[in-house]
Amino acid sequence: MAEATMRAVVMDGFGGPEVLRIGEAPRPRAGPGQVLIRVAATSVNRADLQQRTGNYPPPPGESEILGLEVAGVIEALSEGVSGWQVGDRVMTLVGGGGYAEYAAAPASTLLPVHRNLDLVRAAAITEVWITAWLNVFLEAGLRPGETLLVHGGASGVGTAAIQLAKALGPSRVIVTVGSEDKAAACRALGADHAILYKDEDFSKRVLEITEKRGANVILDHIGAAYLEPNLSCLALYGRLVIIGLLGGAKAELNIGRLMVKRHRIIGSVLRARPVEEKAKIAEAFRDQVLGRFETGELEPVIHEVLPLEQARRAHELMAANANTGKLILQVDSTLT
Ligand SMILES: NC(=O)c1ccc[n+]([C@@H]2O[C@H](COP(=O)([O-])OP(=O)(O)OC[C@H]3O[C@@H](n4cnc5c(N)ncnc54)[C@H](OP(=O)(O)O)[C@@H]3O)[C@@H](O)[C@H]2O)c1
Repeated sequence: MAEATMRAVVMDGFGGPEVLRIGEAPRPRAGPGQVLIRVAATSVNRADLQQRTGNYPPPPGESEILGLEVAGVIEALSEGVSGWQVGDRVMTLVGGGGYAEYAAAPASTLLPVHRNLDLVRAAAITEVWITAWLNVFLEAGLRPGETLLVHGGASGVGTAAIQLAKALGPSRVIVTVGSEDKAAACRALGADHAILYKDEDFSKRVLEITEKRGANVILDHIGAAYLEPNLSCLALYGRLVIIGLLGGAKAELNIGRLMVKRHRIIGSVLRARPVEEKAKIAEAFRDQVLGRFETGELEPVIHEVLPLEQARRAHELMAANANTGKLILQVDSTLT
């Protein structure tokens, strides 16, 4: 019997956005403990750009197809999966394989999509909202009344972090952004201060805003280039959580200051964590955060919805830092 195929974004080798094209790929099967999802929408994450260039391979056993999250409808369940039914609307992290008509995902990481939420908005939630929440609250332990500095405030992760810090704190939120438009968007989401990092020294500005105390938590995706300025404006007992390396991976560290200031530097990735750990994180997110999307207290920020066929253009937009919030790839517009 011929293998079932599906529409998917495939890559002609590694390289720039031009290696992406729509094609055919084998349809995945739900393995033990998994469900097969008919994908309504997926989204572009910064990591996809690195995977496309060959610098961020999927974890062993995961699909080679790009895409770290999907929202859609359960098409089939493997034996032993309970609590879910064919036809349920779900969203979930996937280790890979999101840019396609079907994706297989562990049942344990599924989140329900409430009727107030359409599947396009749901596709903007799991990767960046779980990342923001996990790192700001579980890893760095932001407490009400503390000050949070979010780099890339208008990014997918940043727009989630601002809203979460306001809803679950409240905390004072300072962001760094690359343009006045992005600053305005962050303020509209609740950020108290937006620093244009191309025009001013963010570290000095954070110290001014906090009357020399510094930020209690910094969510950073720049890495090496920001290590020194981040630690210069991190408060006593402050926590720096590093989730990306857009500014490089190697830097010098003044360990003496680290000790005197009782600083903690936390490195964190989501994709590489084992399924059991992702399932626990998803369960806690479901209990503590998900209901706030149903009430409208939290809202995913979507820059643009493009058809799956325009994955290349979506990558170009993200590479140009043109997006405020998420770039969604709609796979099947009949699924809502
Ligand atoms: N560790 C994890 O588990 C995890 C999970 C998800 C995401 N991440 C990371 O979190 C970051 C945000 O992800 P995303 O998908 O939300 O990204 P995104 O929407 O593409 O936003 C990233 C933003 O960072 C800013 N930026 C880019 N290069 C920069 C540089 N060299 N220096 C300073 N700012 C720069 C740009 O904003 P401006 O125009 O304002 O400069 C850009 O729009 C990425 O680095 C991603 O890899 C990590």
